[in-house]
Amino acid sequence: MNPEDTRNADWLSRSLEAVWHPCTQMKHHEQLPLVPIARAEGMWLYDFDGHRYLDAISSWWVNLFGHANPRINAAVVDQLGRLEHVILAGFTHEPVVRLSEQLSELTGLSHCFYGSDGASATEIALKMSFHYWRNRGQPGKARFVSLRNGYHGETLGALSVTDVPLFRDTYAPLLRESFQVPSPDWRQAQPGESAEQVAVRAAHDLAAHLREHHSQTAALILEPLVQGAGGMAMYHPRYLKEARALCDVHGVHLIADEIAVGFGRTGTFLACEQAGIRPDFLCLSKGLTGGYLPLSVTLTTSDVYGAFYDDSTARGFLHSHSYTGNALACRAALAVLDIFRLDGILESNREKAAAFTRRCAPLIRHPMVRNFRNTGMIWAFDAVDERPDFSRRFYERALGKGLLLRPLGNTVYFMPPYVIEPEHMDLIVDGTMAILDDLQQNP
Ligand SMILES: Cc1ncc(COP(=O)(O)O)c(C=O)c1O
Repeated sequence: MNPEDTRNADWLSRSLEAVWHPCTQMKHHEQLPLVPIARAEGMWLYDFDGHRYLDAISSWWVNLFGHANPRINAAVVDQLGRLEHVILAGFTHEPVVRLSEQLSELTGLSHCFYGSDGASATEIALKMSFHYWRNRGQPGKARFVSLRNGYHGETLGALSVTDVPLFRDTYAPLLRESFQVPSPDWRQAQPGESAEQVAVRAAHDLAAHLREHHSQTAALILEPLVQGAGGMAMYHPRYLKEARALCDVHGVHLIADEIAVGFGRTGTFLACEQAGIRPDFLCLSKGLTGGYLPLSVTLTTSDVYGAFYDDSTARGFLHSHSYTGNALACRAALAVLDIFRLDGILESNREKAAAFTRRCAPLIRHPMVRNFRNTGMIWAFDAVDERPDFSRRFYERALGKGLLLRPLGNTVYFMPPYVIEPEHMDLIVDGTMAILDDLQQNP
């Protein structure tokens, strides 16, 4: 046996003994391979025995500029020599100040409150919105409304506004009641209806809900343009415009959860830009550090900030996480923003996206492919396959072809790092077609 194989097998079995892996029924690993990764570079992940896997989903949508990006590496290493972390209550530091200034400039929102993972940004937005109304003398505004099929994270507050049954149903008794209104997902189109008309129809449902419930509603939370974990459902920006107007009319906050879609994923730096709107709260994470370190931020307006600014301690926002505003993570985020600025990423992504969509032409014609869709640097389709374990069978075959692809139910999606080149597009599209052919012949 090759000694390197032993190392691979060794890490695999030690991990299964000691690590409880996320979003996983661990028993499935009796059949499914667990992949120990030794190192990564650019689009590629390398295991211990020399196999490589093309990271076509940016390691759960976090990586923007490739693994081991030399510029982000250099920034983090430099920061390590200066300051790794300091408490952010009562203290501050250069990377968190610079990052907050730059994010405010980019988003038009005046204040940044930091968390660690995406779900903590969602929790912060929900709590801040409720507390804002309380501080303004409207404590009855304590409910939230979200979109059907929406996803905002796995902690209890975030899960309360999430509508993905697989993640939510088991914990339903622990969750606060929230309302879900119809999603503007264009797959709901009736014959002859455009994506924009679907958006307008869904906005009418939101209007009806807010007319009735606005006095108990603190905020509407949604994922702008693409509902990710719910199956890459895409919708027309008109919905965001209508939602913004309705929230204004009814005195309800709009929380834009751009944790997955921010940082250029939908073609603009923020998805909300495509509707020309600004939310009251904006949640960012994932791409914020280029996929390097856990960091999230909830941005908000000076109006919201002002409602907490008071002599009374209890009127302040007394929420915290130990690693809030971690200096290494903020420095990685600053390097990410530099790359956006210096390398014209949004322009080059437009060309890459057009090339990838052209490259997908034969895939779109595949008999197993339905509802092929694309927004910016996200592509998805629904596979025609009746078996309930489609996702696992596809994932396993993809690994066999050196591709990291993890369908959401029957939805196969590509969400690659922005350093993708034509040769990677070939591997993804040809590999996906070969897997579909194989699944058709050997169901
Ligand atoms: C839209 C959205 N919100 C929130 C989250 C939760 O982020 P995290 O997994 O970092 O807690 C995710 C994660 O996929 C997401 O896609």
